[in-house]
Amino acid sequence: MTIPARGAEPAGAMDEQSASLAVQTMFNTIAPRYDLLNHVLSANIDRVWWRRTARAFAPILRRPDATVVDMCCGTGDMTLALLRHRPADSKPLLALDFAHAMLVRGQRKFASQGAVAIEADALHMPIPDNSVDLITTAFGFRNLANYEAGLIEMHRVLRPGGELGILDFSEPKGLLGRFYQFYFRHILPRIGKMLSGSSAPYNYLPHSVHRFPGPDELQTMLRACGFAQASWTPYTFGIAGLYRAVKA
Ligand SMILES: C[S@@+](CC[C@H](N)C(=O)[O-])C[C@H]1O[C@@H](n2cnc3c(N)ncnc32)[C@H](O)[C@@H]1O
Repeated sequence: MTIPARGAEPAGAMDEQSASLAVQTMFNTIAPRYDLLNHVLSANIDRVWWRRTARAFAPILRRPDATVVDMCCGTGDMTLALLRHRPADSKPLLALDFAHAMLVRGQRKFASQGAVAIEADALHMPIPDNSVDLITTAFGFRNLANYEAGLIEMHRVLRPGGELGILDFSEPKGLLGRFYQFYFRHILPRIGKMLSGSSAPYNYLPHSVHRFPGPDELQTMLRACGFAQASWTPYTFGIAGLYRAVKA
């Protein structure tokens, strides 16, 4: 029996398992060009978003004994932004991803800065229940094959009172929204193909953002999965935004 994906749906995926495998293969393939493409396609605004997200959690990050996970860390730029707020003698930050080629690149950046790499699936993290003070994920959650399962897994590892931060794209409304749709659907895939040689990941990106639940729906899902104080702060006119919630 095939279960339809209740999360990301890359082209050709039949069920959650094949969706997950397609996402993993796609990131392993684009890993060598990922950082360059990210910075070119976002005109470096992504750096501002990672830093702003890390600042939002500075009070937890400043506690040396806090257990912090950066889920779907990829090549590690969100991880590095979080590490800037960690005191020198802090517990190592756990940086988790299932795409080996992405994680290897991340590890080169963050291993000497106080983070350890964990190669694992975000839907089955090798992390004990109720053990984490902060879990963040930047532009990774949207790629999970099952969003509800992702929230339940993050809830499982967090301690009561532990905090969650999901930084991801959204679709802005109005005139900017129309311009953004045009850029995202017609210009970005062309630049992506030119620089990476492959069009599939940059056709998948706008599709995945369109399919991703909007702010109201995602906050409802957070509450349904046992989180309290769910909120969404738009970044750069709502092109991206930060979801925050606390394990009740
Ligand atoms: C768009 S990249 C984001 C990387 C990084 N956080 C950033 O902000 O640049 C998404 C990452 O999520 C990872 N990912 C997607 N689904 C995953 C899963 N089920 N388990 C672990 N990692 C996953 C991919 O391998 C990829 O490295």
